[in-house]
Amino acid sequence: MTPPSALRLRRLRGTEAVRSIMSETTVDPSDLIAPIFVRYGRGLVEPVASLPGVSRYSVDEVGAYSARLSDAGVRAVLLFGIPETKDETGTQAYAEDGIVPSAIREIKRAVPSMIVMADVCLCEYTSHGHCGVVRGGQVDNDETLPLLGKAAVAYAKAGADVVAPSAMMDFQVRALREALDESRLQRTLVMGYSAKFASSFYGPFREAACSAPSFGDRRGYQMPPGNAREALREIEADVGEGADLVMVKPALPYLDVISRARERFDVPIAAYNVSGEYAMVKAAGSKGWIDEKAAAMEVLTSIKRAGADLIITYFAEEAASWLGGSR
Ligand code: PBG
Repeated sequence: MTPPSALRLRRLRGTEAVRSIMSETTVDPSDLIAPIFVRYGRGLVEPVASLPGVSRYSVDEVGAYSARLSDAGVRAVLLFGIPETKDETGTQAYAEDGIVPSAIREIKRAVPSMIVMADVCLCEYTSHGHCGVVRGGQVDNDETLPLLGKAAVAYAKAGADVVAPSAMMDFQVRALREALDESRLQRTLVMGYSAKFASSFYGPFREAACSAPSFGDRRGYQMPPGNAREALREIEADVGEGADLVMVKPALPYLDVISRARERFDVPIAAYNVSGEYAMVKAAGSKGWIDEKAAAMEVLTSIKRAGADLIITYFAEEAASWLGGSR
């Protein structure tokens, strides 16, 4: 017996042309944000072993790299700094002539149209590697807030379009918004790393950014992987504190959180396809166990399908080139 023809869903997949007009989800180069690691020195492009294809750039190399990203169609970058010196309170995170402000100025000089986002956290800058000031073995929330505010102001003054607090301190979005507004930097956007989970997928990043904690772990401030409702409360709090956009991080193990946030909030949502997620695809691809390009595009498509508007990903340059560059 022939089933009713209405059920022949394969009609929707008959040819490449039909498949392409029926597609529900597309990834565009303008959805992608490329992380960049900047360091001191001159003429340095230093590959990160656990992130094939990703390098740390000295400030004088960051303009050329941004131009390459721009040529590929990438419209935005997210900066992480590796300072020359570290101390207890992460002074170099908020030094006006520090590594990140220098890189921001260089990128804006080389590619004025590039949207420059800067991660705001202390972990790359503190001697103990925690994301805030440590008092009696604990990360002190309220003592950390003004330092994050100072860092955001330093980055915004250097020309950052977006500052992104990633320390998972309570009220960090409000602290940045108030500090920016007091310095008449009302036009700078705040992207909250709102639902940031305590994840094993940050391993390669910590090698790249030299930011692993020297004692303990980050579970006192980052979210437990099992808690989706609490993640939604974190997002709600950040929206209330004035976040212009929010983020879920990592992406793949938390697609349900992205999807629930999409249904609940009408703010733009970014998802961070983190270092470990990238490294897995690269590692399996290099062994010939998966088709790296197809897997990477499937990953990015799934993050968009879940509801993210923007994806921070180490695949940004490659994926933008695969997608045919700027349009
Ligand atoms: C800083 C920060 C981290 C990442 C982004 N910002 C590391 C961490 O929290 O330990 C991880 C990004 C990645 O893995 O790609 N707090």
